[in-house]
Amino acid sequence: MAYLLALDQGTTSSRAIVFDADGRVRGVAQQAFAQHFPAPDRVEHDPQDILRTQLDCVREALANAGVAAREVAAIGIANQRETTVLWERASGRALAPAIVWQDRRTAAECERLRAAGWADDVRARTGLELDPYFSATKLAWLLDHVPDARERAERGELAFGTIDSWLVWHLSGGRLHLTDPGNAARTLLFNLRTLDWDPMLLERFRIPPALLARVVPSSGVCGETDPALFGAAIPIAGIGGDQQAATFGQACLAPGMAKNTYGTGCFLLMNTGHAPVASTNRLLTTVGWTGVDASPSYALEGSVFMGGAVVQWLRDGLGLVKRASEVEALAASVPDSGGVVLVPAFTGLGAPYWDPHARGTLLGLSRGSGAAHIARAALEAIAMQSADLVEAMARDGAAPLAELRVDGGAAANDLLMQLQADLLGVPVLRPRLLETTAFGAACLAALGCGLWRRPQDIATHWQLDRRFEPRWPAERREAARALWARAVERARAWAQD
Ligand code: G3P
Repeated sequence: MAYLLALDQGTTSSRAIVFDADGRVRGVAQQAFAQHFPAPDRVEHDPQDILRTQLDCVREALANAGVAAREVAAIGIANQRETTVLWERASGRALAPAIVWQDRRTAAECERLRAAGWADDVRARTGLELDPYFSATKLAWLLDHVPDARERAERGELAFGTIDSWLVWHLSGGRLHLTDPGNAARTLLFNLRTLDWDPMLLERFRIPPALLARVVPSSGVCGETDPALFGAAIPIAGIGGDQQAATFGQACLAPGMAKNTYGTGCFLLMNTGHAPVASTNRLLTTVGWTGVDASPSYALEGSVFMGGAVVQWLRDGLGLVKRASEVEALAASVPDSGGVVLVPAFTGLGAPYWDPHARGTLLGLSRGSGAAHIARAALEAIAMQSADLVEAMARDGAAPLAELRVDGGAAANDLLMQLQADLLGVPVLRPRLLETTAFGAACLAALGCGLWRRPQDIATHWQLDRRFEPRWPAERREAARALWARAVERARAWAQD
């Protein structure tokens, strides 16, 4: 029996999962690591923590599965995207904490670049917004603030990478500096059409080309691990950003198929086929994966900042429940929200609004409103924000959604999934395996190393847990959506001076 090893390096924890050749989970390990918030707008990770926890998880998952490194056919890597690391090539030592995707320290710089009129050209080349979310301004910040970094970068002594590159560098004993087009497409430095680093963007963001990783297909053997690490060299055959990997693991292989991950935030990606679809509704255009078919696959993406985090706020901020799992029962104790609408714009609004000045808003309260109505409004808000993304995709000309595949922690909430189906008017499909990110990484590796032959093999491993059918008549859905749109208008531009 050959096995697949998936590394899922996420924002708050590292995970490793051993799958057998039939896609069954054989061993799992997970380790959380420290989050650093040195200032209100800053989020950092210690790159060494990321590496240590990830390597520990690999060893633990192999031990749990009773599998030796020599039995592993290939490794697939899925990773938190955009997070930026700068390291020294000679020693492999990071020169500064990693700047995490959530970090907003370069907001003013992005504002300045937008005011200089760059946003449209940047969007045309990269498919992205000129926003601190992405890597380019984070990397420029490091080059400007780490002593001697810019000169050393010009001399070729330093390397930049997103987390995939950082892991591959160390997994290969410092021999490989690689990334895949899906991760590269989140840096603001990568051209969606040429599928290569864009010289004009490198100049605009002041990034020395000597820093950059070689771009390799998402699926395909690109190297192997240092035998000293796990006892035998393991081929590395899959690399994907975690949201792209989850889309692949959900077998969203045909244009129009979409998945939504309900984590801290929500990430909704729709496969748009082999050509990038430009958004006129402030969604992101991104590479899905390459190396699977003759041509790359692209996706439209929308991200919502507050997904499962809304449930945490009910628990920690309002104290309405003791455990997050109690929210479903509380919300289900009333037939509807009684007119209460919550817009959880606690840190502004993400796609399709991109409004950093919006703030959380609770509307429609009456004497009869209670904790259950607020809990129900909170779940509705998660589903409403995801419905905003689907509607924006439709306005962008994407094929009408036939169904939505779901994963992530909050996808276990049946009421939320039912509300999602009701608000979208399409079925919501929850797979048995909710580890779709790790599974997607394993699939990229399985195809990349030839263990599986056809992408369609993924679909044979995808099994349904539950299908939520929409129950609301169109009038009820439209009325709820209209009320939500009015509430979003109230929440917007609140914190603007
Ligand atoms: O774009 C950020 C995303 O990749 C983070 O995903 O699952 O680590 O929160 P996650």
